[in-house]
Amino acid sequence: MVPTMGALHVGHVSLIRRAQSIGASVVVSIFVNPLQFGDSSDLATYPSDIDRDLDICRETSVDLVWAPSVEHMYPSGFATRVSVTGVSVPFEGHHRPGHFDGVATVVTKLFSVVRPDTAVFGAKDFQQVAVIKRLTSDLGLPITIDVAPTVRDHDGLALSSRNVRLEPPARTRALAIPRSLRAAEDAWKSGVRSSRELEAIVATELGDLDIEYAAVVDPSTLSERTNDDDSAVVLVAATVGGVRLIDNVVLG
Ligand code: PAJ
Repeated sequence: MVPTMGALHVGHVSLIRRAQSIGASVVVSIFVNPLQFGDSSDLATYPSDIDRDLDICRETSVDLVWAPSVEHMYPSGFATRVSVTGVSVPFEGHHRPGHFDGVATVVTKLFSVVRPDTAVFGAKDFQQVAVIKRLTSDLGLPITIDVAPTVRDHDGLALSSRNVRLEPPARTRALAIPRSLRAAEDAWKSGVRSSRELEAIVATELGDLDIEYAAVVDPSTLSERTNDDDSAVVLVAATVGGVRLIDNVVLG
């Protein structure tokens, strides 16, 4: 299964192809989940084109598309929330209160209806993967969580459904995000290991972007690394031209 919110792009297609290489049949869900949007204007402007999405699913030979309505997913009286603590608290959890409860609730429902053997998620949403792995393990769901690498545009910007809302000047400014991640990677390769030094390198590249966070932490706990030799993840969130973008790179 590949859970999505539609406005499908090449990143989603890479997840579908990966799922097809794993399973005999592939289900794609398309559901813009209101529970995970704190900001109602972000929900209202979230891109949506179901006909185009269905064409893409047909072209990629998806076996089944499930695109439920909000009323179907959350009928009146729906009162359950799935809430993951720990890894969901910092970063996205801090800047988008309630977001991961919304993600965890919808993913649990998607899993329990579709009951896939494997679900494929993108590494682009690094913290989301950590939250979903946690909930799958904690609830004992018999589902393998597979993680696919981030697909980038030719200029390095991570593909995202929200990129269509970037005006050309904002898009150019947004390239500071992948540039900052490459700078961190280069520094790591040349032997820089301290989180603070790596963060300073990232911050320099991000310049005057409106940054929500740009941090170097432990990839499994998303908290401070205890040892400079441990692997690291650089997590970045910034708003550019009114569009909120996130990206990350794992080091080591
Ligand atoms: P959505 O943003 O549509 O993303 C669906 C899946 O595609 C997620 O696993 C995401 O990480 C992955 N994805 C997005 N951009 C990608 C890229 N450039 N490269 C690789 N994978 C990419 O994430 C969600 O929807 C929702 O939160 C969802 C899990 C469906 C729950 O509502």
